Amino acid sequence: MIQMQLQTSKLLILSGSSRAGSFNGKLASLARGLALGEGAQASLLDLRALDLPVYDAEIEASAMPAGALTFRDALARHDAVIVTCPEYNGFPTPLLINAFDWVSRVTAGNGLPAGLAALAGKPAGVMSASPGPFGGLRSLMFARQFLHNVLGMLVVPEQFALSQAAQAFDSEGQLREPKHVQAAQRVVRSVLRLSTALRTVSP
Ligand SMILES: Cc1cc2nc3c(=O)[nH]c(=O)nc-3n(C[C@H](O)[C@H](O)[C@H](O)COP(=O)(O)O)c2cc1C
Repeated sequence: MIQMQLQTSKLLILSGSSRAGSFNGKLASLARGLALGEGAQASLLDLRALDLPVYDAEIEASAMPAGALTFRDALARHDAVIVTCPEYNGFPTPLLINAFDWVSRVTAGNGLPAGLAALAGKPAGVMSASPGPFGGLRSLMFARQFLHNVLGMLVVPEQFALSQAAQAFDSEGQLREPKHVQAAQRVVRSVLRLSTALRTVSP
């Protein structure tokens, strides 16, 4: 008999922007609120605060930066991930890619899995926001490919590219249009549904 998994999902939310007033940061906060509304636990992790240098094998050879271990620990403690990331020249930002590059180099230790093992098989959702007309849509394809094909995460089909982001948020950081909230909610719900389903079959 399949045992019902009653424990709530723990969702980790990452923004790929370091900009004060970032649209993707606002989208990350919104995703957190939506996840809490679905009864999940949800935490935002500030990638900038990890203070990771650009990946450098010489730095790695001398010592793994503390931020890489912090990121691995956060991933290990969560069931699923949502990424909200700006598009820089059609691609997810260096802040995001660099953090994942570092964590992919972390080996298992102190009872915690390697960075790649902390990611693999976990559900993920991708969103982007841009002041432009496509909302960062092109970068979502790469984010999806990176997280799924390379890092082994289970990226849900739903995604959200918020265009004209400068007009989309009100002064409280909330999305003005219900259809935008609903699009973000579809991603959050899909990630949480998959997370619950996976923990039900493999608690
Ligand atoms: C280096 C760079 C490249 C960018 N390339 C794109 C792009 O390809 N597509 C796009 O829609 N916006 C692009 N932008 C504009 C960003 O979408 C805009 O700066 C946005 O506010 C970044 O997201 P944030 O507000 O979350 O920081 C680019 C910005 C920078 C700094």
